[in-house]
Amino acid sequence: MSRLVSFDDAREKARRRMPRFAFDFIDGGAGTETGLGRNRAAFINRILEPRALINVDGDLSTRTRFLGKSWAAPYGVAPVGLAGLAWPGIDRFLARAAEQAGVPYCASTPSTAKLEDLHDCAPNSGWFQLYVGSSQEIVDDLIERARIAGYDTLIVTADVPRPGKRRRDLRNQFALPLKITPRFIWELASHPKWSLGVLRHGAPRFANLERYAEPGASTTSLASLMAKQSSGRLDWDLLADIRSKWPGKLILKGILSPQDAQRATSEGVDAIVVSNHGGRQLDGAPATLDALGPIRDAVGPDFPLIVDGGIRSGEDVLKALMAGADFVLMGRAFLYSVAALGQDGAAEAFTMLQTELTNAMAQTGVRDIVDISK
Ligand SMILES: Cc1cc2nc3c(=O)[nH]c(=O)nc-3n(C[C@H](O)[C@H](O)[C@H](O)COP(=O)(O)O)c2cc1C
Repeated sequence: MSRLVSFDDAREKARRRMPRFAFDFIDGGAGTETGLGRNRAAFINRILEPRALINVDGDLSTRTRFLGKSWAAPYGVAPVGLAGLAWPGIDRFLARAAEQAGVPYCASTPSTAKLEDLHDCAPNSGWFQLYVGSSQEIVDDLIERARIAGYDTLIVTADVPRPGKRRRDLRNQFALPLKITPRFIWELASHPKWSLGVLRHGAPRFANLERYAEPGASTTSLASLMAKQSSGRLDWDLLADIRSKWPGKLILKGILSPQDAQRATSEGVDAIVVSNHGGRQLDGAPATLDALGPIRDAVGPDFPLIVDGGIRSGEDVLKALMAGADFVLMGRAFLYSVAALGQDGAAEAFTMLQTELTNAMAQTGVRDIVDISK
């Protein structure tokens, strides 16, 4: 019997089980957080048309082909940096659960487990997300490491030319290394399961970047190394350079303008993620669901499009597909589930999502997910 009722319930439980600074880091967005709210509002306000008298008895199919592979469902785990703050060990839990569920798992440059270890957890479904930081040497090395580890898909994130200004983090004075203040000690003492998890799995760290720091480097210098992983130097020339170095599928993440999307199609990009980084970068950015339609029109019906931002249920997945996406990614929903339920929350999230999606398909007369037209 699943203990997960909804991702909204999981969020409330996660809020109680996580230290305040950690929950705010995961949950928060840029500026006034109206952009964050806009992502959700767009899904809430989108209406699905119920259809009746269509025989939807028996199993409905959510299987889909995307970027040359067959997936059990058209959703996957978005790349999340410092996910270990949500729940210690979470990167591996989610990678294994996604592999088990037959859907993509995106390891991130600032993930709290090594990209090589995460590929071992998700050998068939792992994608690797790259930040183009200020050091070209590190960028080239990360690309090479991803190839050697066996990843076949690289996601280049394009929407972090500067770190986002997140007011909750500033108010909490959230920075790495975590400062040992009386309030911090109180937060650890009042969230014992989270703190015990840290004892078992170690404090969240930039596992992929440690090798680029001086031997014995402090967390502070690692944090500054991470800060340099967001840089404003990514442009079309640099993207072409990455394209020439990466033999596998290349996904460009963080596109919101139809012009940018159209250009990407002629630069050898295999897919685009219509994304505003979960409302964490530009408060005034459009809701991703609203940006999706004009981008679909710009790139044509066949170009592979992914959308993320504010997806919190199987119905939302269906809404995204009906609005023109081929695939969706979800970030916070999976973080809340594991923070609420621990390791079991990873598998339970996929089970619940699948039930919600097929239920919504039945209500709207969709027997097979591939029949949804763009
Ligand atoms: C805590 C957190 C960390 C994130 N870190 C990254 C990252 O390292 N790389 C990246 O491309 N996107 C990152 N994202 C953005 C997600 O990949 C995704 O675009 C976003 O979470 C989607 O919105 P949702 O959380 O509402 O599903 C992060 C998001 C969150 C919430």
